[in-house]
Amino acid sequence: MPKQPKSRSVVRAGLRSGESVRVLIPHARVTSRLKQLAREIRRDFPKDRLHLIGVLKGCVFFLADLARELGGEVSFDFMAVSSYGKGTASTGEVKLIKDLDVSIEGKTIIVVEDILDTGLTLKYLLRLFEQRKPKDLRVVVLLDKVDRRIVDVRADYIGFTIPNEFVVGYGLDFDERYRNLGDVCVLQFDSHATEESE
Ligand code: IMP
Repeated sequence: MPKQPKSRSVVRAGLRSGESVRVLIPHARVTSRLKQLAREIRRDFPKDRLHLIGVLKGCVFFLADLARELGGEVSFDFMAVSSYGKGTASTGEVKLIKDLDVSIEGKTIIVVEDILDTGLTLKYLLRLFEQRKPKDLRVVVLLDKVDRRIVDVRADYIGFTIPNEFVVGYGLDFDERYRNLGDVCVLQFDSHATEESE
């Protein structure tokens, strides 16, 4: 296979030897899809204050950009749960690391997730939030890996449905790296570790 030229942003995001990335969704497409999602959400709740709950840390750019696209009143809070750690495969365990700062009772809640994979994290969160009696509870995900689902859970608003590949960028990480990549990219592990040397 011919080697893909590396974009400036990929080089700047600290590509390491033995790893390479392939752009799956360029930043411009993410941005335009995000505007559509914001319009859809606002259309469903024209008057409500939308209380966004971001699932750290992958949600940060998505939530920040979405919040700015949503007109009207918007507030937000964050939640942290255990994730993949250093690997690329889920352990199947979900653990609460940081709870919300304020109550969600009676509020219109939009859970903002970077990616829906097995669905375990979202299932866990929805069960927790439903007990707290929000007025409405919706979910927006940037990426949906439908083929990987092992529990029955769906997002109400989906940015992109993607194949079963490990992706990084626009907030998504591998071992805490590549979050600062503007594009959503597939991460590949090379047998020939020459990608990084410029
Ligand atoms: P789930 O519980 O299996 O649905 O996984 C949800 C979490 O796993 C996401 O919020 C991400 O933090 C992480 N995750 C799943 N797939 C990927 C991926 O392709 N790249 C980076 N993180 C991922």
